[in-house]
Amino acid sequence: MKKQNEKVRKFFDEYAAKFDALYGEDVRANLFNRIFRASVYERFRLAATDAERLCEGFSVLDVGTGPGRYLSLMAPKAGRLVGVDLSDGMLGPARARAELEGYTDKLELLAGDFLNVDFGEEFDLILAFGYFDYVFEPAAHFRRMNDLCRGILLATFPKRWHPLTIQRKIRYTLNRCPVRFYSLSNVNGYIATTDYAEADVIDIGREYYVRMNKGVY
Ligand SMILES: C[S@@+](CC[C@H](N)C(=O)[O-])C[C@H]1O[C@@H](n2cnc3c(N)ncnc32)[C@H](O)[C@@H]1O
Repeated sequence: MKKQNEKVRKFFDEYAAKFDALYGEDVRANLFNRIFRASVYERFRLAATDAERLCEGFSVLDVGTGPGRYLSLMAPKAGRLVGVDLSDGMLGPARARAELEGYTDKLELLAGDFLNVDFGEEFDLILAFGYFDYVFEPAAHFRRMNDLCRGILLATFPKRWHPLTIQRKIRYTLNRCPVRFYSLSNVNGYIATTDYAEADVIDIGREYYVRMNKGVY
């Protein structure tokens, strides 16, 4: 595994339980999280709305699925759910959540680097939330998502120029986890390389929420 990926995997293996807890009602209400993690909650809300555009039984690939909160969000309407993540520690809560909520029969969880996993299928919906922060060949990851997607792609990109960027860079550096940030022109540059009929970039504070649709839904 590449050195950068190894650092990311190690960081998320250790951070898994705390990261999962960020979605809990009481943690969301905490003032620190309402200020510093507002975009994490806003992207979750937007994804729920965007998924309504898909027909019952859609397939979803969640790239960097972490604790599988988005798989759980999609589960009632989806026909097939695939989550991929570098970190086994993160996949533990994703598996436990699926067992608790009863959707293991339509779920596949894969441990590994998204660029190297052979999926052998295309997906109606691809998600990449809080993912591009930790990848070091973003253009290649974005291209692969485009190749695997036949419907809607939803992704976030953390902003390079934002008051919260510096503290985040410092926090992650102290925790030995590499993190990267994007300008709006970086994001538009990736979009320009793809073949989606619609592409929107929505400013949600600390990050850009990207919604792309091949026009089939
Ligand atoms: C901040 S978490 C986001 C989890 C989830 N998408 C969410 O928003 O709740 C980022 C996840 O991406 C995973 N990740 C980073 N690089 C990856 C790669 N190359 N392939 C697969 N997963 C990766 C990390 O292990 C981590 O679990």
